[in-house]
Amino acid sequence: MNGKTASLDQFRTLRTDSWWLQPLLVFVGLGGFVIYATWAALQDAHYFVAPYLSPFYSPCISANCVHKTIPLIGSWWNLSPAFLVLWVPGGFRATCYYYRKAYYRSFFASPPACAVRDAAGSYSGETRFPFLLQNFHRYFFYLSLVILAFLWWDFILAFRFPDGFGIGVGTVVLGANVFLLSLFSLSCNSCRHICGGYLNSFHSAPGKYKAWSFISRLNEKHMEYAWVSLIWVALADLYVRLLSMGVIPDVRIF
Ligand code: FES
Repeated sequence: MNGKTASLDQFRTLRTDSWWLQPLLVFVGLGGFVIYATWAALQDAHYFVAPYLSPFYSPCISANCVHKTIPLIGSWWNLSPAFLVLWVPGGFRATCYYYRKAYYRSFFASPPACAVRDAAGSYSGETRFPFLLQNFHRYFFYLSLVILAFLWWDFILAFRFPDGFGIGVGTVVLGANVFLLSLFSLSCNSCRHICGGYLNSFHSAPGKYKAWSFISRLNEKHMEYAWVSLIWVALADLYVRLLSMGVIPDVRIF
């Protein structure tokens, strides 16, 4: 028995392919994102450089924001403004049906892959806390739409430079970010349900049938949108951060 099969012995399976590769990549990808997002939120700095606001801090709703979108929270809040908003997209992704499958497999090995032994001795599904919270996914979807509206607003503001109208690389970065996040949100299973999936028959609801068909087509690519939007939102924050720190210049296209 070689070293690799010995270390994987607890996951007994008859599979001979590299079944462990996908959960490993998800572990690295999701773990890396969570570490970066937490670090960026803790910085409480370098999240705004005119006219760009990092998506991790948008909407900026506390008095201590460098760039206030809408000052709802007073000066009593002295932690990073990112923590006031990040729980919404964080909760939306954490309760997402695709991500659940991905992190149950890669972080909990429950099970790590099809036809591979579950690491847990027993199974309680999502009937106990904290997994009971997965049932709030639809409400996180509604809240995410509010965040998305603010991100579209940030994109519009990204054309408004101190010297007037313009387009910079940052404008494109923020535009691509909100577009990808919109694809991810609209392809959500809850969105599909709300747009007509709850009906038993579309016979008397042709408009809902069209909406449901459109969302269903998006839904087929939900996993892809989940990953591309996740990577891009981190890159968008990184772009604004590096600009603000003076590490890179913003190239003006127009
Ligand atoms: S965001 Fe993935 S299923 Fe809703």
